[in-house]
Amino acid sequence: PIPLIIDTDPGVDDAIALMLAVASPEVDLRAVTTVFGNVALTQTTRNAGRVLALAGRPDVPVAAGAARPLVHDRAERAEQWHGGDGLGGHASALPDPAAEPDPRGAVAVMAGVLRDAAEPVTIAPIGPLTNVALLLAVHPELVPRIGRIVWMGGSLGAGNVTGAAEFNAHCDPEAAHRVLTQADVPVTMVPLDLTHRCTAGPDWVAALDAGGSRGHRLAEVVGHYRAAFRTRYGVDAVALHDAVAVLEAIRPGTLRPEGMPVQVACDLGPARGATVPGGEGPAVRVALDAEFDAVLADVLERVGRL
Ligand code: BDR
Ligand code: CA
Repeated sequence: PIPLIIDTDPGVDDAIALMLAVASPEVDLRAVTTVFGNVALTQTTRNAGRVLALAGRPDVPVAAGAARPLVHDRAERAEQWHGGDGLGGHASALPDPAAEPDPRGAVAVMAGVLRDAAEPVTIAPIGPLTNVALLLAVHPELVPRIGRIVWMGGSLGAGNVTGAAEFNAHCDPEAAHRVLTQADVPVTMVPLDLTHRCTAGPDWVAALDAGGSRGHRLAEVVGHYRAAFRTRYGVDAVALHDAVAVLEAIRPGTLRPEGMPVQVACDLGPARGATVPGGEGPAVRVALDAEFDAVLADVLERVGRL
């Protein structure tokens, strides 16, 4: 199996993505590292431990990383989507984390996995890129051990937090700039342009709910997120953003990428956090198409295995 690190800010779609990784024999989930994002770092860290416990893998090490972005101090939140506790009001209904977070912290834990792995490691960041940017800065010697970085984030079209910017990019544009423009790192970006076309409707949620006690718990977690999509977009369908990126990490080639340099707007104006194709720099593989029905069915079938 491919050694995998998930860097995450759970988050409802993050929770689905973690369950998906645990359910998939193609990957060996070596560590889950956490970052500020949908809710504060202490909460995302606890949520990661809870979701792993729910998934039946309380042994996967969890390590906390950045509580705020690299340069500017304001850590944003997405509580309107994920609820005040990050898991749609159901965090405390999940089992408690089995252990305290690894005291070495996210960057050291990621470095340890990279050092110890016999094969190239896939890193799937599904939140702000702060921890990954720090890893690249602190441990350039470990970059050759990274097989791929598959990031959920960015948008070539409209944003979801401002007109221009997607949430994960907007949370820490300087970190995103670092990760997307470092020549020796193979990055696949899974932007909103794709994930907004991969939405799960009521039948999908009902099938999740019917798929055993873990599926039922996860379906409860999805409820608030589903209501938020209804309010914001007027549709009864939820984007699985992070789960789609993690499926690509599990099954390379699931999504169809196009190579292009991507610039990240790091000024403080209205474009802040926009991910703009073109210009100079290494090609980022931007996933823009997929068989959406097959992706949704695959995520459901895998999570149902738990
Ligand atoms: C991204 O933002 C977060 O709210 C989700 O978890 C996902 O990672 C989508 O823009
Ligand atoms: Ca996320």
